[in-house]
Amino acid sequence: MIELRDLAPDDEELLYRWRGEPEVARWMSDADVSGREAHRAWFTQLSNDPDLRGWMIQRSGRPAGLLTLTGLSGHHRRAAWNWFVGDREARGRGVGRAAQVLGLDRAFGDLGLHKVWAEVMADNDAALKIQTATGFRREGYLLGHVLKDGAPRDVVLLGILRDEWQALAPAARGQLVAAGLIAA
Ligand SMILES: CC(C)(COP(=O)(O)OP(=O)(O)OC[C@H]1O[C@@H](n2cnc3c(N)ncnc32)[C@H](O)[C@@H]1OP(=O)(O)O)[C@@H](O)C(=O)NCCC(=O)NCCS
Repeated sequence: MIELRDLAPDDEELLYRWRGEPEVARWMSDADVSGREAHRAWFTQLSNDPDLRGWMIQRSGRPAGLLTLTGLSGHHRRAAWNWFVGDREARGRGVGRAAQVLGLDRAFGDLGLHKVWAEVMADNDAALKIQTATGFRREGYLLGHVLKDGAPRDVVLLGILRDEWQALAPAARGQLVAAGLIAA
């Protein structure tokens, strides 16, 4: 069963480890995780700043990954989506698929957002496939938009609007419930 839970202070250490893992770090464009201090500052901000919200993705009651939304306090009621499944053994088992549905439900439900968007590295096939399969649309392609280890990399912009998610959500939830991935 996949669930989202609020972050706890103890999560800092595990998140530091996950964010440093090559399979995760290679796709992250938003943060410098080169040092412990930078990570601590990031975690403190994630836990306290109302502009950000983070959830631990839990699989069978154990931490499996992280989902964050940033930009929550802005005028436009939109937020940027970022996520990873940090536990290697949890990848490829539907955790990402379930976390997306749970996360979009929170974004458009409790948080009352109008839009969720994401910047995904153009060669991140896994993220592009799973996010577009859940309803994110490609909205743009930005050449050399981020520097990764000093090299410019292209980025795909993805977005989903509240109305779009409301139309897609019942079927998406139903599939996950039928697969035993989320609670009914
Ligand atoms: C992207 C990510 C969150 C997906 O989570 P996951 O739990 O492994 O994904 P799921 O098991 O739910 O798989 C969902 C779909 O993606 C596909 N997929 C998963 N990994 C894939 C890969 N490496 N290449 C291509 N497709 C992949 C699965 O086949 C599945 O498709 P299907 O439903 O048609 O079978 C995870 O792979 C990850 O953390 N990647 C590294 C960090 C990252 O890229 N984050 C996104 C930055 S924007």
